[in-house]
Amino acid sequence: MNIALLGFGTVGSHFYEMAGEHSELNVTTVLSRRPRPELKCTVTADFDEIVRDRSIDTVVEVMGGVEPAYAYVSAALRAGKHVVTANKQLMCAHYDDLLALARQNRVSLRCTAAAGGGIPWLTSLSRVEKMDTVDAVEGILNGTTNYMLSAMTNKGTDYAAILKEAQALGYAEADPTADVEGYDARRKIVLSANLAFGVSIPEEDVPCVGISHITSADIEKAKELGLTFKLIARAQKDGDRVAAFVCPTLFPVTAPEAHTDGTGNLVSLYAKRVGKQSFSGAGAGGFPTASNVIADCMEVLAGCGSYYTDKARPCAVDNSGAMARWFFRRNGEYLFFGDYTVAQAFEVYRGYLADDPNALMARVAAERRKK
Ligand code: HSE
Repeated sequence: MNIALLGFGTVGSHFYEMAGEHSELNVTTVLSRRPRPELKCTVTADFDEIVRDRSIDTVVEVMGGVEPAYAYVSAALRAGKHVVTANKQLMCAHYDDLLALARQNRVSLRCTAAAGGGIPWLTSLSRVEKMDTVDAVEGILNGTTNYMLSAMTNKGTDYAAILKEAQALGYAEADPTADVEGYDARRKIVLSANLAFGVSIPEEDVPCVGISHITSADIEKAKELGLTFKLIARAQKDGDRVAAFVCPTLFPVTAPEAHTDGTGNLVSLYAKRVGKQSFSGAGAGGFPTASNVIADCMEVLAGCGSYYTDKARPCAVDNSGAMARWFFRRNGEYLFFGDYTVAQAFEVYRGYLADDPNALMARVAAERRKK
């Protein structure tokens, strides 16, 4: 396989190093704006050179962001090149187009590293989806916020200090707002739901609350109650209706989620026949994420199909049926709400924010979940 690598940041540089250990994965070209004399391959700043080069059969895109990644990836697919990407933002923004392009041009499009870092989550989900009915997918899908919440909970570290540390360690997105406000987890649950349920849901349809309102006092309050905060993304399907949302969630300290620390991700699927399956591991970081990119390249070499699934029915998100228990803080006062739908809870929270811009919302995880 002759590969052009787009992006030489944390994931790209680790991918380059790992590909060097596999004789079948030959990185012939790196797209880079600046010269990289240290690399033993062609370095170009001109993507057209890559598109025109017929010897390149696969483009690995780990540059992130929607543009110019979309222009490059769509041109590569049109030129009959396979694409492996770790870019969840791109995959969410252009899901239908990219799947169609891969199909039309009879090439493979893989993005396992886009959700779950180093965990083979999308590939495992795809195996189950082919032989069973998946009812729900849920989990801790952002390494940065999990790293931050763990340090705030276990060591009492300050929010700003721990965010800086997560950025320095290369876990956070270029703009960490995507991590702390939950947009990164939202993109990952959209990709998971699309695959699990054979749908295509718009990212903006999914209500999303991140961790930026969680204070040390909230963490202490949760501890008093025997609970731990985690940022959870969830999607579930009832008939034709797909519900999806992202928000802080309180777990009993004995729950596996509460023990998922650092950049760990823990994501589960709930299917009719196989029941619950959970996957955990490093959700961010150079080597774990690059490992999934390497594994995708190997699947492409082995002749995998155009995408994990052929099904992508356009589908609006409907949170009016999914019920849960909720926890709010408004003007310093903590409130527990019984069974409210997800739609109702987010509406209540919007009202609270108008009154108190620092208000907090969290779901309370069911102690015994059916799904
Ligand atoms: N910023 C992302 C995270 C990187 O922290 O999970 C891995 O997708």
